[in-house]
Amino acid sequence: MDRSALHKISYGMYVIGATREGEINGQIANTVFQVTSEPATIAVSINKDNLTHAFISDGGKFSVSVLAQSAPMELIGRFGFKSGRETKKFADVSYRRAATGVPILLDYTIAVIEAAVKKQLDCGTHTIFVGEVVDCDIIADGPCMTYEYYHSVKGGKSPKAAPTHQQDQPKEPATAKKRYVCSVCGYVYDPEKGDAEGGVAAGVPLEELPDGWVCPVCGSEKSVFTPE
Ligand SMILES: Cc1cc2nc3c(=O)[nH]c(=O)nc-3n(C[C@H](O)[C@H](O)[C@H](O)COP(=O)(O)O)c2cc1C
Repeated sequence: MDRSALHKISYGMYVIGATREGEINGQIANTVFQVTSEPATIAVSINKDNLTHAFISDGGKFSVSVLAQSAPMELIGRFGFKSGRETKKFADVSYRRAATGVPILLDYTIAVIEAAVKKQLDCGTHTIFVGEVVDCDIIADGPCMTYEYYHSVKGGKSPKAAPTHQQDQPKEPATAKKRYVCSVCGYVYDPEKGDAEGGVAAGVPLEELPDGWVCPVCGSEKSVFTPE
């Protein structure tokens, strides 16, 4: 079996919002899809360990913010590599509460969808929540971010909680400028590409990055990076 066939499945990039007893939380998911047209229903696969899972289970509703291609890695790191158990993810982003109370991210968002859970499918590590769409809207122009774009252009990774998580692949032969991996989130610093969002030009080795430089995904210091 060649599991790399699974990498050929296409996805988008979304922030799933949920609420429980007045509290709000959200997480990145790539596994959103439309199930039926009449009535409009959508589904998302959520890891049972995630706080968002508990909020959707208890609250019975969720929102989907469709991310723009321009969404920065910091935003993806905040919602995709940190748990709402440790950090208030909506603290300094712009969002609104929908009629059902779920938070909807407004930054770097092209479209928003609100759904009421109708069915849950237990899939072992994950639950698939199927929700009937109660409202949806386009809020900005521009291309949506795809999962492929996140991986190939932004250099992003998927954490273990993501259903599409892949074990590390065999290493490439060493090159003159070494690539380094963030031991917290798995982001790869590739000196050939630099870190445009962090103001680092292509060609700068990790060793020469300024001391204040931090991982663009999870905000960890340079010292946690190890050679790939
Ligand atoms: C690119 C990407 C895709 C992800 N896709 C999913 C997904 O489809 N389902 C899921 O449960 N977690 C997914 N995750 C992981 C969650 O976003 C992550 O575990 C998050 O920290 C959970 O936060 P919470 O505990 O506040 O709910 C993904 C993360 C990234 C970065």
